[in-house]
Amino acid sequence: MGLNYSERIPNNVNLSGDRRLMRALEIWQPHFLEWWKEMGPEGFQAADVYLRTATSVDAKGWATFGYLKMPDYRWGIFLAEANPDERIAFGEHKGEPLWREIPGEYRGVLRRLIVTQGDTEPASVEQQRHLGATCPSLYDLRNLFQVNVEEGRHLWAMVYLLHAYFGRDGREEAEALLGRRSGSGDNPRILGAFNERTPDWLSYFMFAHFTDRDGKYQLASLAESGFDPLARTCRFMLTEEAHHLFVGESGIGRVIERTCQLMNAHDTDSVGLFGGIDLAIIQRYLNFHYSISLDLFGSELSTNAANYFSAGLKGRYREDDWRDDHQLIGATRTVLKPEGSVIVESTQPALVALNETLRDSYVADCERALARWNKIIGAANIDFALKLPHRGFHRAIGQFSGVNVTPKGEIVSAQGWESRRDQWLPTSADKQLVADLMRPVLKPGEFASWIAPPVRGINHQPLDFEYVADLPQV
Ligand SMILES: [Fe+2]
Ligand SMILES: [Fe+2]
Repeated sequence: MGLNYSERIPNNVNLSGDRRLMRALEIWQPHFLEWWKEMGPEGFQAADVYLRTATSVDAKGWATFGYLKMPDYRWGIFLAEANPDERIAFGEHKGEPLWREIPGEYRGVLRRLIVTQGDTEPASVEQQRHLGATCPSLYDLRNLFQVNVEEGRHLWAMVYLLHAYFGRDGREEAEALLGRRSGSGDNPRILGAFNERTPDWLSYFMFAHFTDRDGKYQLASLAESGFDPLARTCRFMLTEEAHHLFVGESGIGRVIERTCQLMNAHDTDSVGLFGGIDLAIIQRYLNFHYSISLDLFGSELSTNAANYFSAGLKGRYREDDWRDDHQLIGATRTVLKPEGSVIVESTQPALVALNETLRDSYVADCERALARWNKIIGAANIDFALKLPHRGFHRAIGQFSGVNVTPKGEIVSAQGWESRRDQWLPTSADKQLVADLMRPVLKPGEFASWIAPPVRGINHQPLDFEYVADLPQV
């Protein structure tokens, strides 16, 4: 079904065929816009941004590009195409037809899953709302805003499910999604990483790389769901998510590239004086963002995770690719756990360890990106390699939360760990240095001193294209 943009709420779910639902969403729509104006990108609501808008839900040619003011973005409800032959692929209901309605016994759990996912979307917009003031280029500013409007659309995606399938509770949850605020003392966002500040663009790129990538894995496992509307919603969200991950990975890659240029030009590791960010600082930011993103996968051992899988609600990453029974009856796997002063492998039921299995897929993906960054350093003939810290490092959730693990994976005393914290995590001096570099660059084709230009522009436009026009007077 094509995307219908002629209605007040663009959609491909035949919204006009369900007047009650349409009216409920039309009541929510102005509340969303109020939230966007209050908590969306600060200072740029009236700017013209070169944005892409979805025109179809298939992988090819789904976007058109043009100037838009962000509050005029056509947020809507888009689900990937249904596959009539598809059946539930895993768990106790494996082989049964997909659910078009919510099975009563899973209502509570499904609502929780949808609300938790939905909450991260507006949270990230709130976390990033001040970044426009210090953008390193118009190209980067445009990419930030593209990510922001799409996170807004992801909120729409989850709110649609709440309104369409959860009745009154769903409507209340949809309102509450606009009521919580990232970092708020009394009404914070649900997950820890989404209450952290994103104070500067290095943190932003790290967030888009590591934290959005957790989102990719959560969405991919929900895209396997036996509840078909959820699966199809998440499938389309994943196509949008790919751009967010690109912004993160290429952003960090460009910072690294610039640092290497400055190191070679000035024959030094300390490039702060020359307007760059030291590789050691990049490593510490990486350690921080990677570790808090690992927490988002939850505890290594989780009966909730087992139940979600057995119930057919949340699968593994690319469930079809797993060569097993897709039910994990009697299956086991090894899981790392701290034991006294060492980290050992323990054998656990695979079902209870599913968070760890999803985390494995994520870690492997992070390793691949890391190798690409290290290639940039290698190409500059610099003898340095970025590393992912051990998965027990700096964890607040799961079996490692009570122990002090070094990036190399050794357990040390609390005091021993604290005494080396400044080697491993961003220091106040690091944050100050990065903050001092954050000055807006708003001239087309120009880039801040700490980041290399990208290889190419957006949608075949040149690098000096005016990606954001009609800027506020700063
Ligand atoms: Fe999202
Ligand atoms: Fe995202």
